[in-house]
Amino acid sequence: MSLDLKALVRTIPDYPKKGILFRDITTLIEHPQGFKESVEQIARQYRGRGITHVAGIEARGFIFGAGVAIALSVGFIPVRKKGKLPGETIGQNYALEYGVDTIEIHADVLNEKHVVLLVDDLIATGGTAIAAVGLLRRTGATVKGAAFVIDLPEIGGAAKLAAEGVEVSALMA
Ligand code: PRP
Ligand code: ADE
Repeated sequence: MSLDLKALVRTIPDYPKKGILFRDITTLIEHPQGFKESVEQIARQYRGRGITHVAGIEARGFIFGAGVAIALSVGFIPVRKKGKLPGETIGQNYALEYGVDTIEIHADVLNEKHVVLLVDDLIATGGTAIAAVGLLRRTGATVKGAAFVIDLPEIGGAAKLAAEGVEVSALMA
């Protein structure tokens, strides 16, 4: 019988603010098979499709994105919160389910020849992922897909991201 990945994600009410049902992936990644299977299921969808880089969004997207990059034998690009990258950067502001932030990548890391898979743990409003896709596309690279462990479909971010012309997938809702 296959592992129930959804059962390994814990839901914590009212974190970080009242009314938010926080989907906690720490319980998934501390489970060896759960972590491995999550990464492998994402990698399986994109193997042989010309991906040259995986981009992961700080911080939880680093955990899954790095694993997917290794599984696909491609490089990893950290999409970081403002002020963390040492080289010249390009940045994009975005709205969160609970705040406002800016993400950045190094300005010279990608070009027209590159094909990127964006990975994050979760999509809610889609604000973070849409900003990341916009940022990645500004380099001339193609964004082949955006893969998430968790989609919160009732919030509508995945549909918004798909409307931007991105192939969106998630392992669970
Ligand atoms: C969370 C999550 C996604 C984003 C999803 O990250 O890991 O990146 O929010 O929300 P959205 O679809 O509404 O934009 P957060 O900014 O909380 O940072 P963290 O990974 O550092 O905890
Ligand atoms: N990021 C944005 N919304 C979230 C949620 N409900 N749970 C975990 N991470 C999130």
